[in-house]
Amino acid sequence: MTAPKKKIAILGSTGSIGTQTLDVVARHPERFWVVALAAGKRIAELVDQARLFAPRFVACADGADVAVLRAALPSDTKIASGQAGLALVAAESGADVVVAATDGAVAFDAVFAAVERGTRIAVANKELIVAAGELFMEAAAKSGAEIVPVDSEHSALFQCLVGEPRERIASLILTASGGPFWERSAEEIRSASPSDALRHPTWQMGAKNTVDSASLMNKGLEVIEASRLFGIGADKIDVLVHRTSLVHGFVVFTDGNVKAQIAPPDMRLPIGYALAYPDRLDDHARTDPFSAIGLDPGASLARLEFQRPDLERFPCLGLAYRALAGGGTLPAALSAANEVAVEAFLKARIRFGEIAEVVEEALDGTLPEPLSLGAVRAADARARELARKAVEARLGALSNP
Ligand SMILES: NC(=O)c1ccc[n+]([C@@H]2O[C@H](COP(=O)([O-])OP(=O)(O)OC[C@H]3O[C@@H](n4cnc5c(N)ncnc54)[C@H](OP(=O)(O)O)[C@@H]3O)[C@@H](O)[C@H]2O)c1
Repeated sequence: MTAPKKKIAILGSTGSIGTQTLDVVARHPERFWVVALAAGKRIAELVDQARLFAPRFVACADGADVAVLRAALPSDTKIASGQAGLALVAAESGADVVVAATDGAVAFDAVFAAVERGTRIAVANKELIVAAGELFMEAAAKSGAEIVPVDSEHSALFQCLVGEPRERIASLILTASGGPFWERSAEEIRSASPSDALRHPTWQMGAKNTVDSASLMNKGLEVIEASRLFGIGADKIDVLVHRTSLVHGFVVFTDGNVKAQIAPPDMRLPIGYALAYPDRLDDHARTDPFSAIGLDPGASLARLEFQRPDLERFPCLGLAYRALAGGGTLPAALSAANEVAVEAFLKARIRFGEIAEVVEEALDGTLPEPLSLGAVRAADARARELARKAVEARLGALSNP
């Protein structure tokens, strides 16, 4: 007997993770059915997606775009905007799996609403887990919602942990590509341009995520994410730089055995796993042993190389460990301040090296409050304000180098 198709809702369908999720769904129409899509401002793309996948529910960020969607889509499509639209897609669409693939904090309430209904969340939205991960995991434990990570490193750890007792984890190791600046000097990194930072060696991602990879803030956010998802303290989570992004994570067990997950750097693999879990898709796997693990088919020698991260040249990673150790609302402040700093960098308002300075100033001005969604929102708003001030203070310096 064939299993019923899983109903999929995607928050952030026009983004990097969203479009790759649709790609996975399109390859497996016998297994998945898109019931709901939410996007922000790329309305033409959203219309194309909705025409192709015929979801019952469609949402956009801005109320002014509803009329465009109304005119373009069948009359029985339910359409909404803003927070109501995100809630419609996440919690009212009846999806079996909600793919949380918006960036930043915009979909926090909608994803929480879906978790409270016990819906499986395929979670890519890093900022959500960083800022409110403990609350999120608590809510999931209460409702029985399964949380399956989409981020490749966390998917790796999740896959290594299937069937393993969590109390037997000695440590988790996340790998980092090192980004485009790994071989550069501190001075070159400090003055790198947005186009340099957007040139990622192995992964294709949205702009914010790509800049975060270049600063290693992405890895810092992932350390916090791993701590929240797997209930492991900062002292048991390490990072190793691995330029080819083939090994995504290691779990070291208390008996000394180590499991690693290896796969070509293609986000459709962890996305497909999160949709199909506990099953696996019949997809992608290659038979040549070198290409199966992401190397050139003709390769005769494969080396897996790892290095320790350099916190001097990449201070954002250290800031993330500091926020995780401080706990409470500090990770929310870190993530929010980083969003402001990255946006300012992409608009050429601050230098690349100043991203860490802006985030550090915001952290210095934040007292860790005990966690609640209200406290997360307040810490987020205050950190943004502090970060904006730190950016403003640097504007003069940038125009008079
Ligand atoms: N990309 C990756 O490989 C990767 C890997 C691991 C984790 N992640 C995490 O996954 C999340 C998404 O990353 P991404 O690279 O896919 O980002 P992205 O390409 O920038 O996509 C963000 C998506 O969110 C939508 N969005 C923004 N504001 C919205 C709003 N107010 N209402 C509804 N939708 C809204 C955007 O819509 P419009 O574009 O239409 O405005 C877009 O569809 C991030 O948290 C990132 O850290 C990404």
